[in-house]
Amino acid sequence: MHWLKNIFSKKEKVNLELLCCDMHSHLIPGIDDGAKDLEQSIEMIRAFKELGYKKIITTPHIMSDYYKNTPDIILNGLEKVKNELTKNHIEIEVEAAAEYYLDENFEEKIKTKKLLSFGKNYVLFELSMFSEPPHLANVIFELQVAGYTPVLAHPERYPYWHKNIDQYDELRSKGVLLQLNLLSLTGAYSAEVKKTAQKLIDFQKIDFCGSDAHSKFHLQLLSENLHLPYLHKLMALELLNKTL
Ligand SMILES: [Fe+2]
Repeated sequence: MHWLKNIFSKKEKVNLELLCCDMHSHLIPGIDDGAKDLEQSIEMIRAFKELGYKKIITTPHIMSDYYKNTPDIILNGLEKVKNELTKNHIEIEVEAAAEYYLDENFEEKIKTKKLLSFGKNYVLFELSMFSEPPHLANVIFELQVAGYTPVLAHPERYPYWHKNIDQYDELRSKGVLLQLNLLSLTGAYSAEVKKTAQKLIDFQKIDFCGSDAHSKFHLQLLSENLHLPYLHKLMALELLNKTL
């Protein structure tokens, strides 16, 4: 009954427990467009636990215009979340880093060498959705000179690269690690994003994957889509999540 086995395997859910760690989310209360209060943070963390994660590295936005977060603001928020977890007897490891937006002030921040990093000095950063930053190569170089390893958040989401898959090779050849959003595979952002995410998996160009969860609904959506064949394919790659 080979055909029956095929049907079954397509429906089989991936086990996110194998990833161990999620390294992209927005669950520090009230400081970006993620969890609005402590209650929502805790709901999200419970959902992460149900999905099998053992550790969360949460990454609030740092943007000059919208979210003027600093390492202090983020780490104070983390303390509040951790105290609430202890109070509620919820056991899970939670750390914080940040998702830096490449804007005109990012280079200044790099020079201070006080970025919030995770793992082996990894720095998560994101780009404009509208146009490729002209000084991207420079920023990558400056991050590396300052001792950081750049990790580009959701490379599949930048529309200006959808027709230029070679761009991803170029980034990786410069030492940039790529982090795919799990929800990109559901089509939640757009059909084009989904197609690019699938290509990146086919060509094995992904180093990390993350939920980029902003609310418990994102985690719900993820749990409803665990059967997706491309999630299985992604999990078969050598992802760095388990090293964190
Ligand atoms: Fe994010």
